[in-house]
Amino acid sequence: MEHIVVTGGAGFIGSNLALTLQQRYPAARITVIDDFRSGSFKNLEGFKGDVIAGNLAEMGLGYYVDASEIDAFFHLASITDTTDHDQYRQTHDNVEGWRSILNHFAGEKAALVYASSAATYGIGGGINRIDAPLRPANVYAFTKVQLENLAARYVADFPSQQVVGVRYFNVYGPKETHKGQPASMIYHLAQQIQAGKKPRIFKYGEQKRDFVYVRDIVDGTILAATTQLEGKFDPKHGRVFNLGSGQARPFNDIIAILNTTLGTKAETEYIDCPFSFYQPHTEADLAVTTAALGYKPAFTLEAGIADYFKSGWLVPA
Ligand SMILES: NC(=O)c1ccc[n+]([C@@H]2O[C@H](COP(=O)([O-])OP(=O)(O)OC[C@H]3O[C@@H](n4cnc5c(N)ncnc54)[C@H](O)[C@@H]3O)[C@@H](O)[C@H]2O)c1
Repeated sequence: MEHIVVTGGAGFIGSNLALTLQQRYPAARITVIDDFRSGSFKNLEGFKGDVIAGNLAEMGLGYYVDASEIDAFFHLASITDTTDHDQYRQTHDNVEGWRSILNHFAGEKAALVYASSAATYGIGGGINRIDAPLRPANVYAFTKVQLENLAARYVADFPSQQVVGVRYFNVYGPKETHKGQPASMIYHLAQQIQAGKKPRIFKYGEQKRDFVYVRDIVDGTILAATTQLEGKFDPKHGRVFNLGSGQARPFNDIIAILNTTLGTKAETEYIDCPFSFYQPHTEADLAVTTAALGYKPAFTLEAGIADYFKSGWLVPA
């Protein structure tokens, strides 16, 4: 990979991706595009590439990026606050940005990778198989379904070209501090414990989620490009893949692990769940992802939280 673009590169996952790519491909020219609506320049400390500030839904990508030069284009930019219910803003900014990228790269050699979400499964919980029906429960998830639909149409129109979508599950790790409320549950519970408060979770903490460490997500996202570039990608597996840990862990486990990692003895405060429906269980089925991309997550929840703590990003800012 010599020429790489990462959109959303000032954000949580995008900055981890951009900095990992810089480490793995030191000779590559890496460009970040971000409009900083939720990202932060602080995440890009040590980044030596180019940073373009722009809203992908409105900027003229052609002015900045020569599509014929790019080897890999990672599209992670998105409104990520799922409680933003402005249907026009979410759909316009998330979908139009992706449409203009696809139009710009039509017929080019670049490997395109884009971030979708486990939120596309919506109320269909349990073990999420990639072919399960998509039932988005909010407009954010709806826009991710639109990204997948657009990508499918693009590949039908330009069959020689590859584009791979990755549905991220519940990602946690360094450089999510800027997100505020939408940051991971692990981040928030760690902040509560370190502030001397009781960590608060819904009664009685048995709900399970697939929590996945950002370093695994970065590895899986890079694999989605390298399998294409190395000619190893076989579309018989599909073109959208789950990226998670492949394990569902109860909320109670997070508090136990945080207590061990932080050396605390915080007691849990169980609160009523305010939602009429709350998913009891989500879990990424990784069989197809492993077959198609060779993805195998390396971090258990214990190892991920320990590494997060070691990074210095879990302590209060
Ligand atoms: N964090 C998770 O658990 C998770 C789960 C599922 C999917 N995802 C997806 O992963 C991607 C990265 O998420 P994140 O957690 O790093 O969130 P984030 O909010 O930290 O990063 C998103 C970045 O995109 C930028 N951005 C938003 N709209 C833009 C636009 N129109 N033009 C240019 N830049 C824009 C923001 O400023 C921000 O820096 C997103 O596509 C998100 O939907 C994340």
